Amino acid sequence: MPRELSLAEIFQVAYYWETKILLTAVKLDLFSALSDRAFTTDDLATHRHLNVRALTVLMNALVAMRVLRKEEARYSNTGVGQKYLVKSSPEYVGHLLLLHDAEWAHWTGLEETVRTGRSPVTQHVFETDPEMGANVLAVLHRIGKESGPTLATRLDLQGAKQFLDLGGGAGTNAIAFCQAYPELNATVFDLPQTLTLTQKKIQEANLESRITLLPGNFHADSLGGPYDVVLMSDILHYQDGETNAALVRKVFDHLVGGGRLVLKDRFLDPSCTSPAWTTAFAVHILVNTECGQCFTSEEVRGWMNTAGLDPVTEIEPHAIVQGVRPKQEEGGHV
Ligand SMILES: C[S@@+](CC[C@H](N)C(=O)[O-])C[C@H]1O[C@@H](n2cnc3c(N)ncnc32)[C@H](O)[C@@H]1O
Repeated sequence: MPRELSLAEIFQVAYYWETKILLTAVKLDLFSALSDRAFTTDDLATHRHLNVRALTVLMNALVAMRVLRKEEARYSNTGVGQKYLVKSSPEYVGHLLLLHDAEWAHWTGLEETVRTGRSPVTQHVFETDPEMGANVLAVLHRIGKESGPTLATRLDLQGAKQFLDLGGGAGTNAIAFCQAYPELNATVFDLPQTLTLTQKKIQEANLESRITLLPGNFHADSLGGPYDVVLMSDILHYQDGETNAALVRKVFDHLVGGGRLVLKDRFLDPSCTSPAWTTAFAVHILVNTECGQCFTSEEVRGWMNTAGLDPVTEIEPHAIVQGVRPKQEEGGHV
């Protein structure tokens, strides 16, 4: 049984000040302004058309938070600020933080959402702001490049020839899988506006001859195929269970006999009260999607069983479930 929260921890969680201080500094792009030289707040306020009194208060807090340094009256980035929060840095993660800042307004409506069950959102960022969506995917791609090869090994795709990454984003997994399995060819299916970034990443990886782009809406359009393996990674939480069950049924028809569907997301325990991160993520999804949610592995397995996948196995607790289309089925009714 985990210990209860202390009063100090309750205050720490409830006083969200540092969160908004950091997000605002990223939104104002203060770290980029300090990337080459230290500034006094007088100079920086003039340079950026900001209010010097307010900027000084904000920047002093950023010093205490250890993302800025103050020497005499001059401010500069600390190592971590310089590495991750300067736009021109190859390791910039600010795009992810900018998305969180943009979603701040939705969080202020959480009380209303809990009263009515309705979120203020009707479309996700990949539909409403493709540029921000692509920027976020580019950061996730850089981070995901570390985990893609491990996922490729874990899934053991030996012998598979055709792989579909449904809602494949920047193509992170398609690239990692093709690099790990020389026999494999991949298709990345995604919204047309997302695939501009995907194409760039595939070119950078020199895999244009083995990875095909398929633009479309996976709820409405044909998925091509048939495929030996289909992956849906971080897709399920944008939709309700009924829509996901229908999508799983649709994918079933695009698999060869013996082919596999792999569902990767953040799954909850049957009690829905852990893992702790995922329970908070579920609230984030509640306010930031129209009808998305986090699911338990049992719910996900249920969609797969109903679609006819058998066996269905959990490859990684709370994260990956795989179902196989039985061999006696004729593959690919497409
Ligand atoms: C969170 S990203 C996941 C990307 C990738 N699968 C990964 O794990 O890194 C969700 C992706 O789903 C795509 N997507 C969302 N709705 C879609 C739809 N109706 N049809 C096709 N793609 C969609 C988005 O464009 C985005 O690339």
